[in-house]
Amino acid sequence: MEKKDLMEKIVSLAKRRGFIFQGSELYGGLQGTWDYGPLGVLLKNNIKAAWWKKNVQERGDMVGLDAAILMNRKVWEASGHTKFMFDDLVECKTCHHRFRKDKVGDKCPDCGGEFSAAKPFNLMLETAVGPVASDENKTFLRPETAQGIFVDFSAILETSRRKLPFGVAQIGKSFRNEITPGNFIFRTREFEQMEIEYFCKPDEGMRIYEAWRQSRLAWWKGLGIKDENIKFYEYRKDELAHYSAGTTDILFAFPFGKDGWDELEGIANRTDFDLKAHAKASGQELGVYDEETKEKVVPYVIEPSAGVDRAVLAFLLNAYEEIEGGRSTTTDSNKEVETVLRLHPALAPYKAAVLPLSKKPELSVPARELAAALRGRWMVDYDEVASIGRRYRRQDEIGTPYCITFDFDSLEDNKVTVRDRDTMAQDRVSIAELEAYLAAKLKY
Ligand code: GAP
Repeated sequence: MEKKDLMEKIVSLAKRRGFIFQGSELYGGLQGTWDYGPLGVLLKNNIKAAWWKKNVQERGDMVGLDAAILMNRKVWEASGHTKFMFDDLVECKTCHHRFRKDKVGDKCPDCGGEFSAAKPFNLMLETAVGPVASDENKTFLRPETAQGIFVDFSAILETSRRKLPFGVAQIGKSFRNEITPGNFIFRTREFEQMEIEYFCKPDEGMRIYEAWRQSRLAWWKGLGIKDENIKFYEYRKDELAHYSAGTTDILFAFPFGKDGWDELEGIANRTDFDLKAHAKASGQELGVYDEETKEKVVPYVIEPSAGVDRAVLAFLLNAYEEIEGGRSTTTDSNKEVETVLRLHPALAPYKAAVLPLSKKPELSVPARELAAALRGRWMVDYDEVASIGRRYRRQDEIGTPYCITFDFDSLEDNKVTVRDRDTMAQDRVSIAELEAYLAAKLKY
C-alpha cells in the first residue's frame, strides 16, 4: 500500500469507528484540534497507563506530578520561552496565507506567489487570568508540561524524601499556536505530552541519558512498534541547543516528513540549565545536598518527552493491515478486503467482545450476563447484530484481541468459543475458567 493511502485509511477508520473526530466539527471545525471518540479515548488512556506503569509504577526511583496548566507568567520568562519559543513565519504577498518558513520552499504552495520577509512568531497561546484582561493578568497556556516539574522541584524533593538520582513523571495537555498544524493528529495546537525529568549528579548525566534512550526505545518496541518503523536520530554537536549535552529524537516511519521519518519523542540531557534559570529568577536555591561532598549540587536533568497524540497515530499506523480477499472461513466474508488492527493487547480499546450466535433471548440473556461479569475486570464489548463473520470483522477492525462466541452448545456444556484476532485459532473454554483463561492471555 502507498504510504499516502495508508494515512487516508487511518483517518477514515478513525472517523468511521469513533477513534478521532475533527474538533468543533458541528461549527465547521477549529484548525489544529481533534476530539477522541469512544474508542480513541480508550486507546489513548491505555497508552498513558502503559507509559505510567513502565516509568513510574515499575521503578523505585520515579514519582508523579500533575501540575496546573496555567502558571505564573514569570515561569515563561525564566525558562526562556517568551524570548526563544519562536518560529519564522512567512506570508504570501498574493493570497496572504501564512506558513512556517522551514516547512515551505521559495514560493507559496497555495498560489505560487512571492513571500514576504520572515517574521518571528511566538508559539505560546496567550490568555488572561482573572476578570480584567490587563497586561498584568496576561499569561500563557503551557507549551510543555516540563516547567511544572522544575518549579515544584524543591516541594517534590522534600515531600517524597528522594535522593539523587530520581525522576518525576507527568502527563498532561500542552498548547502551541503552531503556524501550520497538520498531518492529522501529528501537529496540533492542543496536544498531550508524557514527560520525565530525571535528576542526577552532573557526572552521571551521559550514562543516565544513554540508559533512558535504550529504555524508551524498548518501551515502544515492547508495545509492538516494528523494528523497521522506529529509529534514533542523534543530534550532531552543532545541532544541539545551547543548554543540551546530548539530544536524540526517536523517529517513527510516518507516511510524511523528511524521508518518511518524523519525531515521536525527544530525549535530552538538559544539564543544569532549567533549575539554574529558575533559581536565578526566583531567588531561591534549587539544589540537592550531597552527603558525600557535604555540598549542595544543582542536578543535571535527563528529559524523555513523548507526545501522546503522536503515539496514538504511530500505534494505529503500525498496527493497520489489510488482507485482500479476506481471511475468514465464513462464506459471507470471502473476497472482501479485511482490515485487522494488530494493536498490542495492552493498548486495544476492548480486550474482548461477547458475541451470541443468535439474538434470541435463550442466547442473548446469558451472553449479556457473561459480558457484564467480565466487565468487572476489562473493557468488554457486546454485539449481537449481523452475521458472526461480519461481527468478527468489526472487532478485528478495532483491534479487539479476543472474541467470545456464545452458541446453542454453550447452554448444554457451559463452554464458549474464544477466537484469537491474530491467529484466528479457536479454543473451547469453560465459562467457569474464562476469566482465568483471558487473564493469562492478557498478562502484560
Ligand atoms: N519539554 C520538551 C519538549 O516539549 P518538544 O520536542 O518540543 O520537547 C516533545 O516536544 C514531544 O511533544 C514531541 O516529540 C512530540 O511528540 C510532542 N509534540 C510537540 N509539539 C506537538 C504538536 N504541536 N502537536 C502534537 N505533538 C507535539
